Amino acid sequence: MAYQRPGQGGGLSNRSTDSSGPSPKGGTRVLRLSVTDRCDLRCRYCLPAGAVPFAPQAELLGTAALVNAVAWLVRQCAVDRLKITGGEPLTFRGIVELVERAAALPGIREISMTTNGTRLAELAAALRGAGLARVNVSLDTLDERRFAELTRGGDLRRTLAGIAAARAAGLAPIKLNSVLRRSAWRKDVPALLDFAAGEGFEIRFIELMRTGTEVAWADAELVVAGEVRSSLERTGRLQPLPSVGPARRTLASWRGRDMVVGWITPVSEAFCGTCDRLRLDARGVLRRCLMDPESVPLVEMLRSGTSEAVRETVGRYLAAKVPPAAMDTPRPMRGIGG
Ligand code: 5AD
Ligand code: SF4
Repeated sequence: MAYQRPGQGGGLSNRSTDSSGPSPKGGTRVLRLSVTDRCDLRCRYCLPAGAVPFAPQAELLGTAALVNAVAWLVRQCAVDRLKITGGEPLTFRGIVELVERAAALPGIREISMTTNGTRLAELAAALRGAGLARVNVSLDTLDERRFAELTRGGDLRRTLAGIAAARAAGLAPIKLNSVLRRSAWRKDVPALLDFAAGEGFEIRFIELMRTGTEVAWADAELVVAGEVRSSLERTGRLQPLPSVGPARRTLASWRGRDMVVGWITPVSEAFCGTCDRLRLDARGVLRRCLMDPESVPLVEMLRSGTSEAVRETVGRYLAAKVPPAAMDTPRPMRGIGG
């Protein structure tokens, strides 16, 4: 066992020759932590219809191991923000405790979560109390039938109740994530904009990526963000805003209201050049990118190697990041934290 204690060994972030420390942009990094690959929905773009090859339960880490890995990355890789993802992170038993323990780590400035919202009605207040600052909720349609179809059985009303609970608990700002689909965007986008504008939420439209499930469906359903943007520009103003992270933010005037609309364009316009996120999956494997063919078994290494050796391996791995050849992976996003 070779975890480093604070103050021990300097930390990669102090080494000017080693780019595993501060991000290439010189700042701090966001860690996307996938706490489980399980989910209580079965979105068509994410999971196959039949049996899902989830990781064996025994291979998934518990709260203590996840928090230890996060603590190591905070100390060694200038991580100061945590985005908890899944699978569906609210299916992780002990999620409230995990948030609480991560929030107590020195160096963590903000914890947010990407969730499908189905369990927020029960958990939002406790999560807020534990130190969660905000949530991004996946919501692709406000039509109950299309929601049930796309999520293979999900109940839109639960997600909406979850969003309402998040708002009542003071998780803010709330951002909605909506995957664009060719067959439905003309109906779904206006309804989602109405909802987001009415509630004061930011909404981000995401281009559909192929991730190995239903490839032909994904190809047929792809609509690039530019097409949707042009259609909005015909009816109202769309003004670029300064953007951090992968979403290109715009200020939209929608039916007389100003609202922030983000565009996440992995297919038409890759944002890899400015991305320096780290991802840790529920088995403790570190990746530089969703599409990354290489990875580092961080938690396993921390168990068996010396901290110095792990620092060197992680340092080399992060310094060698190159944009992926294609935004196409056989791995579903639920396993690596969409
Ligand atoms: N293409 C685009 N977005 C996806 N997500 C999951 N799979 C895909 C995909 N194939 C999104 C979800 C959610 C976030 C976690 O990732 O809609 O908003
Ligand atoms: Fe679950 Fe999110 Fe995947 Fe849908 S996209 S099945 S909500 S992990």
